[in-house]
Amino acid sequence: MGPFPQLETLRWVGDACGHLMLLDQTRLPTEVVEVECRDVESVWQAIRALQIRGAPAIGLAAAYGVCLGLQSVREADEAAFRTRLEAVTRYLAGSRPTAVNLFWALERMQRVEQDWRDARSSAAWHDALLDEARAIHQQDRATCHAIGRHGAALLPDQAGVLTHCNAGGLAASEYGTALAVLFTAQDQGKRLHVFVDETRPLLQGARLTAWELVQRGIPATLICDSMAAQVMREGRVQAVITGADRIAANGDTANKIGTYSLAVLARAHNIPLYVAAPCNTFDLSLDSGAGIPIEQRAPEEITLGLGKQIAPSEIGVYNPAFDVTPAAYISALITERGPIAPVTRENIRRLVGP
Ligand code: MRU
Repeated sequence: MGPFPQLETLRWVGDACGHLMLLDQTRLPTEVVEVECRDVESVWQAIRALQIRGAPAIGLAAAYGVCLGLQSVREADEAAFRTRLEAVTRYLAGSRPTAVNLFWALERMQRVEQDWRDARSSAAWHDALLDEARAIHQQDRATCHAIGRHGAALLPDQAGVLTHCNAGGLAASEYGTALAVLFTAQDQGKRLHVFVDETRPLLQGARLTAWELVQRGIPATLICDSMAAQVMREGRVQAVITGADRIAANGDTANKIGTYSLAVLARAHNIPLYVAAPCNTFDLSLDSGAGIPIEQRAPEEITLGLGKQIAPSEIGVYNPAFDVTPAAYISALITERGPIAPVTRENIRRLVGP
């Protein structure tokens, strides 16, 4: 099941010559419609335009995008198929730079080649690639549930929990990461109250997280990002929980812009900050968060972000989509293999490393 009955964040229809359906996240919460992708270009565009977004979901879409991109060479010889596979993965890797899950999923698709020796035809190789995309999707479902179980243990009954952006079923295959923790705690009978940062400029909190929480009947209150300090000071927040787009070897964590501010606020108010993410969000090749590429997005997302011109068009705009929270501000990283606390290089290597 998807995040909501009868709805899936993304779903593949048919065999390797089939197509991909994505829940169009730019239209939520007012319209619940799917976008149909029948070629790799439309998947690239859907990722870039945030019709599908959230680190794990981007990886899943890209894996299926590889299958779409290879449909035209299914009957071609092995060399042509291999050349196209390389071109398609390189192309999809250029859709967004920060979430490492995208590159992880594409590398996994490229590695299918090594297991393919018996296949003897491009069509069989293509079928194996769809099997791999489906396997990644299925594993992501199990991962989200495991993250939920490990994280729920950290939340006390009747906690107020603040979250930022959307790390729910819309951002992964089913249960999400940060929201999986809340969904699981609720399933366990814990009574939570969630504060949802609206998450400017693109309002993933207001449009997507608020929608998911309403669908699941979890008590929640929407706040503007600038209100987080005040609700903390009023004693309404006992934990902050977010997802992640890339975690460096030392635990520095890239997530939606505004997460770093929340981390500083949480520390000032002595509130734990938990980051929930699958192991494939770790990038152990990066020594620290300084090496994480930060996506820069269009100025219009700020000046026209609410569908209306809200600033003079001549004004200069800076629009980084992500920021990096230093590991020292993070109380625990919650993975499908268990929590990492304290967040140290050694503890990360022990749980996530090769
Ligand atoms: O720009 P977005 O909407 O793709 O940013 C998403 C986030 O920052 C999420 O918090 C992150 O990807 C974790 S999703 C489980």
